[in-house]
Amino acid sequence: MIDKTRLQLRPVTLEDARVLLEWRNDPLTRENSRTTDEVLWEDHRGWIERSLTNPDRKLYIALHGGVPVGTVRADFHDGRHELSWTASPGARGYGIGGAMVKQFVNEVLPGAPLLASIKKGNIASEKIAQALGLSPGGQEFPDDKGPHPLILWK
Ligand SMILES: CC(C)(COP(=O)(O)OP(=O)(O)OC[C@H]1O[C@@H](n2cnc3c(N)ncnc32)[C@H](O)[C@@H]1OP(=O)(O)O)[C@@H](O)C(=O)NCCC(=O)NCCS
Repeated sequence: MIDKTRLQLRPVTLEDARVLLEWRNDPLTRENSRTTDEVLWEDHRGWIERSLTNPDRKLYIALHGGVPVGTVRADFHDGRHELSWTASPGARGYGIGGAMVKQFVNEVLPGAPLLASIKKGNIASEKIAQALGLSPGGQEFPDDKGPHPLILWK
């Protein structure tokens, strides 16, 4: 398990674009995302640029001892902040995912109404949502029409 006191969160900058794309195109991240296509650099860079000026989006990167280990995003819509998270592939299984999401909520969105869309069977993410006090509700099918529905946790 990680030393949580060494975990820091800060807003993403354009300089983080490369590492975020690497994590986004990791097979497990793609499998658990709404759209599973590989993301191209040009599209990703534009997405980051728009994200940095979008008042309804909070996009953070987590560092452990200064090393990038994950990212958390929150998109405000319909009265809730929809959370989405990814741990660096090499940093998974050490408690970083859960710790960074909890820290993000405590520091950036304390007490705010939350939502997370999690593909059925993504056990680690279901545990993270549970730890935030969210419960599974309705389901929607992802854009790629894959076999695993997205469960909405509120
Ligand atoms: C989901 C993800 C962020 C979890 O990161 P992580 O650092 O491995 O998570 P943690 O180690 O903090 O584990 C969180 C919880 O899940 C459990 N867990 C982790 N991997 C697990 C697995 N494969 N099976 C069962 N439980 C698992 C942990 O024991 C922990 O439970 P606890 O809080 O009861 O101890 C990481 O797997 C990831 O980036 N996945 C790809 C992207 C993704 O799925 N994003 C979510 C979209 S909503």
